[in-house]
Amino acid sequence: MGGLKATRELIELCLVDKDKYVLDVGCGVEMGACYIAKKCGCRVLGVDIRERMIARSNERTKREGVKDRVEFQVADAQNLPFEDALFDVMW
Ligand SMILES: C[S@@+](CC[C@H](N)C(=O)[O-])C[C@H]1O[C@@H](n2cnc3c(N)ncnc32)[C@H](O)[C@@H]1O
Repeated sequence: MGGLKATRELIELCLVDKDKYVLDVGCGVEMGACYIAKKCGCRVLGVDIRERMIARSNERTKREGVKDRVEFQVADAQNLPFEDALFDVMW
């Protein structure tokens, strides 16, 4: 919602570095995850409830050359299918 400016602020606030695993909830058409992975060298998983968003995000990941560090999957923020403490940062 705040664009890349907000993403940069979150990176600082959440102390994201190359060793962190970030969960981006409600990632939309993916502006942030590829940017975070490129800037910080970390791994990012983006989830969104809408399949169309995930399909478009996967296309972007290929184009941006961060397929090894960025993944997307359909998931509901109210029922996330991940084990506890898998991620270091979630936004
Ligand atoms: C305003 S967009 C924000 C996109 C992105 N985070 C950004 O900052 O550009 C909100 C996104 O949240 C997703 N969303 C809404 N409810 C959700 C839920 N329960 N679980 C996962 N994603 C959800 C929507 O599909 C939409 O893509």
